[in-house]
Amino acid sequence: MVTKRLNVDNIGLEKASEILKNGGIVGIPTETVYGLAANAYNSDAITKIFKAKGRPQDNPLIVHIASIDTLYEIAKDIPKTALLCAEKFWPGPLTMVLKKTDKIPLAVSAGLSTVAVRMPKNKTARELILKSGLPLAAPSANTSGSPSPTTANHVINDLDGKIDAVLMGESCTVGVESTVITLAGEHPVLLRPGGVTLEQLKEVLPDITISDAVLNELKKSENAESPGMKYKHYAPKTETFLVEGENFPEFVNQKEDSVAVCFLEEENDIKINKIVYGSFKTPESLAQNLFEVLRKVDSMGAKTVYIHAPTKDGIGLAIYNRLIRAAAFKVIKL
Ligand code: TXA
Ligand code: MG
Repeated sequence: MVTKRLNVDNIGLEKASEILKNGGIVGIPTETVYGLAANAYNSDAITKIFKAKGRPQDNPLIVHIASIDTLYEIAKDIPKTALLCAEKFWPGPLTMVLKKTDKIPLAVSAGLSTVAVRMPKNKTARELILKSGLPLAAPSANTSGSPSPTTANHVINDLDGKIDAVLMGESCTVGVESTVITLAGEHPVLLRPGGVTLEQLKEVLPDITISDAVLNELKKSENAESPGMKYKHYAPKTETFLVEGENFPEFVNQKEDSVAVCFLEEENDIKINKIVYGSFKTPESLAQNLFEVLRKVDSMGAKTVYIHAPTKDGIGLAIYNRLIRAAAFKVIKL
């Protein structure tokens, strides 16, 4: 299949909308990462997403909507807390897991009785949802297991020839995926940290707890509350270690054949090959560059990469969560 490159203009949006209405799959920008979208009501289209990404069948998709009316079409028994969260964080990088209605096929929820929903802020994504008149199921538009895409070219690098089209939009402003919470159980639980921080969520959901899978490796016997958490993810091919502690430059300077991923502030003290992923004073910049940097690591030709971990507060928790998976839970504490 030839993957069409579509400009973000009326013609491009019209073409993307036609493809989606006809059961095709399209790479689209969102504020977090690029998504691979299909009509959420069309099981055949959903199957194409799983095939193009090589995604495990038991990992459900997020449904993207542009109006609260659609929320009532796809979710039921919606708790008041969900409406409070929607008011505060939508449109934006928050995904809520709720009980699903029969309109959502089991292909989207991977057999679960719940559906993950989010209302993206990105203008192109919103316009496409409105133009097509469809809720769009969309996972990140990467090959399963590799770093998520934050530019249209990342999508093309991974999926060219496997999907119908890509909307060639701008780089993603947040850079890490949405925060996923479940409101389908008795208490709210954070399943995946992301663009909305835990501190922000606690203002609306003071009793929210963090799923074990956010910072720990799940044991084989453990049941994942969010299936995505049990898979290897975001990983460069180069062997990756996450390093915590202050003497990072001293530590990596002894690792001659390796690459260091470091903060701007320590760049000048590091003598081996390095990639700067932003300033530790502006963790938003670390989030924005994170996946671009993880994609770049493999082009450096090193055997090993050591990444300096951010602190786990604010957006740092989301960055740490992605990095610990990229490192397959190999953490060095200095
Ligand atoms: O920012 C984002 O969330 C991006 C953009 C495109 O919106 N999407 C994204 O999708 O990151 P994906 O498929 O890469 O990650 C979705 C995560 C997975 O970890 C999946 O297991 C979880 O959400 N999830 C989806 N539906 C769920 C459900 N019903 N219950 C629990 N977890 C669910
Ligand atoms: Mg993903």
